[in-house]
Amino acid sequence: MADPTTPASSAAPLFRRMAVIGLGLIGGSLARAAREQGLVAEVVGADQRLDDLKTGVELGVIDRGSPTAAEAVKGADLVVVAVPVRAVGSVLEEIRDHLAEGVVLTDVGSTKSSFVQAVREVFGCWPSWVIPGHPIAGSEKSGITAANPDLFAAHKVILTPDEHSDASAVERLSGLWSACGATVLTMPVERHDEVLAATSHLPHLIAFSLVDTLAGEDDNLEIFRYAAGGFRDFTRIAASDPVMWHDIFLSNREAVLKVIDHFSADLESLRSAIEQGDGKQLLRVFSRAKAARDHFSKMLSGQAYVTTMSQKQVTFKLQPGGSVRGDIRVAGDKSMSHRSIMLGALADGITEVDGFLEGEDSLATLQAFRDMGVTIEGPDQGHVRIHGVGLHGLQAPRGSLYLGNSGTAMRLFAGLLAGQAFDTQLTGDESLTKRPMNRVADPLREMGAVIDTAEGGRPPLTIKGGQALHGITYNMPMASAQVKSCLLLAGLYAEGETAVTEPAPTRDHTERMLQGFGYPVTREGATAKVSSGGQLTGGHIDVPADISSAAFFLVAASITPGADLTLRHVGINPTRVGVINILRQMGADIQLENEREVGGEPVADLRVRYAPLKGIRIPEDQVPLAIDEFPVLFIAAVCAEGETVLTGAEELRVKESDRIQVMADGLAELGVASRVTPDGIEIRGGQPMRAGTVNSHGDHRIAMAFAVASLRAEGEITITDCANVATSFPNFVELAQGVGIQLKVEAS
Ligand code: S3P
Repeated sequence: MADPTTPASSAAPLFRRMAVIGLGLIGGSLARAAREQGLVAEVVGADQRLDDLKTGVELGVIDRGSPTAAEAVKGADLVVVAVPVRAVGSVLEEIRDHLAEGVVLTDVGSTKSSFVQAVREVFGCWPSWVIPGHPIAGSEKSGITAANPDLFAAHKVILTPDEHSDASAVERLSGLWSACGATVLTMPVERHDEVLAATSHLPHLIAFSLVDTLAGEDDNLEIFRYAAGGFRDFTRIAASDPVMWHDIFLSNREAVLKVIDHFSADLESLRSAIEQGDGKQLLRVFSRAKAARDHFSKMLSGQAYVTTMSQKQVTFKLQPGGSVRGDIRVAGDKSMSHRSIMLGALADGITEVDGFLEGEDSLATLQAFRDMGVTIEGPDQGHVRIHGVGLHGLQAPRGSLYLGNSGTAMRLFAGLLAGQAFDTQLTGDESLTKRPMNRVADPLREMGAVIDTAEGGRPPLTIKGGQALHGITYNMPMASAQVKSCLLLAGLYAEGETAVTEPAPTRDHTERMLQGFGYPVTREGATAKVSSGGQLTGGHIDVPADISSAAFFLVAASITPGADLTLRHVGINPTRVGVINILRQMGADIQLENEREVGGEPVADLRVRYAPLKGIRIPEDQVPLAIDEFPVLFIAAVCAEGETVLTGAEELRVKESDRIQVMADGLAELGVASRVTPDGIEIRGGQPMRAGTVNSHGDHRIAMAFAVASLRAEGEITITDCANVATSFPNFVELAQGVGIQLKVEAS
């Protein structure tokens, strides 16, 4: 509804006179909303049921009634045809010669091709002032007495203009619907009809059919007596207006038949799964459906989840100062979470995962495997149960696989999908769409894969299935665990041996986890090798807390006088501990306690206390071991005494953002000067961090790094574009607040 503090009637009406033909639920509700909001100066109604005209005036739905449609449209500058879909043709015939100059004509029907066809038949063309419309709102109640001016509030209205439509007519009509509280979308006619066939028409058909089937059973009274919540929820819409729905199905015939065929085939396959006692198939379909429905509920409630989150604007506001004290466990390791799902899905038997990171990126990976027919239960508080399908058990997904913000997922998937029998397409969010993929596509092509990319080697990746891959010996030009892992995964499907040599050690979770699943991987110096023909066996994976997430708190405590923080169960794989090595070299006080090995990965509790830091020249061999930690290490450098120099880190320029430049820009906003070099940065410590606004460019690690900076800042820091923090560290905000960082979140 319009802002209640502004009397709607004080604004100029959008239309002089609105004629509503058909005073049913939708026509009546629109008439009433427009009148009550003062959006039109006068509302004239027409309906075959003459009694309804009287009722309409009495209820305040219309200003006056008109005995015929032809009469009603005279002098109207907006005509809304709100009769059942199959009556539209005759109404258009009746009003054609009585329409005023400059009129805008629209409808509210559930199918749009049939409306456009009727318009073409009656007018001989589709006039630019006819704008088809469809409010996605309704109720099982019908008739003018059900007219409800709030019916459209927070609902969608779809308009289907084409390129010849009058732009100002579209704008005025959109204005009317928006003022009734609706969100207005536009789409092509055909798309509208397909979408509605699937999301509205099919569910209505099934509800009508189910109730009819049950009502036809001999003991129907008994059945209805015991039918409880499920039946009631599922069949509410079977009480809808039969005439209206019979019209809709007959006029959206093609689109509806297509989706009915699709549904019937799926229903038939569930039937045979039940007949054959195929519990696995049932579980697969049900858990995929549950995940989709949960996703949908989150979308509806505006919560974070894969595709929707990135559309939300999230801003962090930080007050300067604060403390860092406590005992916390940060989120599960992202690299291992992705890999646990991938290898668990390709294994034979069941894999149980604990400590799984329920961030958007790893959830997208999980969903992608469900889309390829893998049954995955959970996640439930970090616990996931994967019903592996074996190395050759994946099925072709119905559409492209959406991998959110995750470069890791896209590159690893590229390797394992290159060896499948079916085609796939990999897509992601705006940031992922800008990232280079030739670093994996080129060597995969050398192995015999057929992969297309968008211009410049960017996503989406289109991978042709059914190719015979062969092993290669590859010397990686850059130190990248993603490229290494991608090729090793492709190697599981390639004839002969695949050997990957890295210029510097990078994280080795793929190698360790493959071995954990019983798949042989050999290591000779800087070269990792696999051969095809092996098998993965499901088991248990305990994902430790992510050292890359812990890093924010390691720096937070190191720079905050009085800080004393314990971080539990952190993964300290030697290929990941660069941040600890670098911080210790800068003088940080970090102790490793309770060191142990869990499921093939070393873990420890980290106790970190404030210590004055000094600037250093960061050893280049530590760069790949701390590759994700540099944004927050730059904050440590600002708080250190003396200069910190980073070199050999050009890879930072192709992460979720150009992390060297974006950090330098953010620091400059806070009044901190730095010198950017092609492969690194030089930061003079001790410069004050003033109040300012930093753009994180949607990069989660940049956002979290500047949140840590607030502990030593002199004024308030605002960080924009922070929605992606949920990709790697869903409870960062709560943990940061819990230890004493003065962080508030604003979402819009
Ligand atoms: C990752 C490898 C690194 C890292 C990324 C996760 C992985 O990327 O930055 O966050 O899980 O293999 P590169 O391999 O591109 O360096």
